[in-house]
Amino acid sequence: MTSPFLEVKNLTVSFPTEDGLVRASNDISFTVARGETLAVVGESGSGKSVTSLAVMGLHNRRSAQISGEAILHLESGDVDTISAPEDVVRKLRGKSMAMIFQDPMSALHPYYTVGDQISEAWGLYNEGSKKDGIKRAIEMLELVGIPEAAKRVNEFPHQFSGGMRQRVMIGMALVNNPSLLIADEPTTALDVTVQSQILQLLRDMQKEFNMAVILITHDLGVVAEVADRVCVMYAGKIVEQAQIDDIYYVPDHPYTIGLLNSIPRVDQLDGRRLLAIPGQPPSLISLPTGCAFRARCSLSHLVPNNLCATKVPDLDEKLTGHFSRCHLTEAQLSKARTAPGDAL
Ligand SMILES: Nc1ncnc2c1ncn2[C@@H]1O[C@H](COP(=O)(O)OP(=O)(O)O)[C@@H](O)[C@H]1O
Ligand SMILES: [Mg+2]
Repeated sequence: MTSPFLEVKNLTVSFPTEDGLVRASNDISFTVARGETLAVVGESGSGKSVTSLAVMGLHNRRSAQISGEAILHLESGDVDTISAPEDVVRKLRGKSMAMIFQDPMSALHPYYTVGDQISEAWGLYNEGSKKDGIKRAIEMLELVGIPEAAKRVNEFPHQFSGGMRQRVMIGMALVNNPSLLIADEPTTALDVTVQSQILQLLRDMQKEFNMAVILITHDLGVVAEVADRVCVMYAGKIVEQAQIDDIYYVPDHPYTIGLLNSIPRVDQLDGRRLLAIPGQPPSLISLPTGCAFRARCSLSHLVPNNLCATKVPDLDEKLTGHFSRCHLTEAQLSKARTAPGDAL
């Protein structure tokens, strides 16, 4: 395996609030290499954004308690974005690591043309005139598939459709050829056809720039074609981590099995009902003892001695490169996989 570009180790982010400590991101570890796409999947509120904002050094240090490491292996040496001084981390954003968000309007300024904004981002790391910057902006708009780029470079964000605006965002994020791109639900607001175009674009850009990509989504259905590996998050923790094919064909955690049963699959058009996972995730302020998924898991009764209620399962490597945080045995799980409608 290629050596990782980003190594996240035991990353924990908590927010002290009046109601108690919100444990948003809990002992998270993963790696991503250049040329690789890691999908981070989980329901809303599972800690996906909190984790990525920590890697980017974008949390307010006064309101967030952060521990652990997020090491970027740069040519100039390793930098831990969690412990490095703020000015060091700021200089890494845009070039060593960049992020795109679900809502491009929150990242694009409404009063400046997209050309001015891309050109300004380029100017942070490049010497050149305004004219050079605009030329570069046109190149980026062409690269991300915006027709009539030379004309549209002079337009404002609101003049673009949702899908085109997301392309502008991607163009802006990529203008300095970042080594790592974190895409936080980049297609959630878009309709299905545009979604797949944007994901394909991200895939193409990844090849072109040999980036490490972290694709964050709540929809396990969208990652099949673009991800190499998947981390499934539940209530602030990684509950399963594996190659994409293993996640789809031999999911190990009942939560992942539940997620898969709730999306339509072309290889399973056999009249099976789509099943949403009943129940809600637990409060991150008062996490239950034992497994956080226990209350929604219809298989926990198979585990003896009430273990699911008393012991948090470890994230064990059950098969090579396939990690899962569950007390169930392989035999119990394979039954759940083959008869998802009955077992879950
Ligand atoms: N600044 C904050 N203060 C308190 N709680 C927060 C803060 N930011 C996020 N959270 C909480 O952390 C949890 C995880 O949030 P987030 O990472 O945004 O979830 P998602 O997986 O949907 O991206 C949520 O319960 C959210 O309410
Ligand atoms: Mg989020």
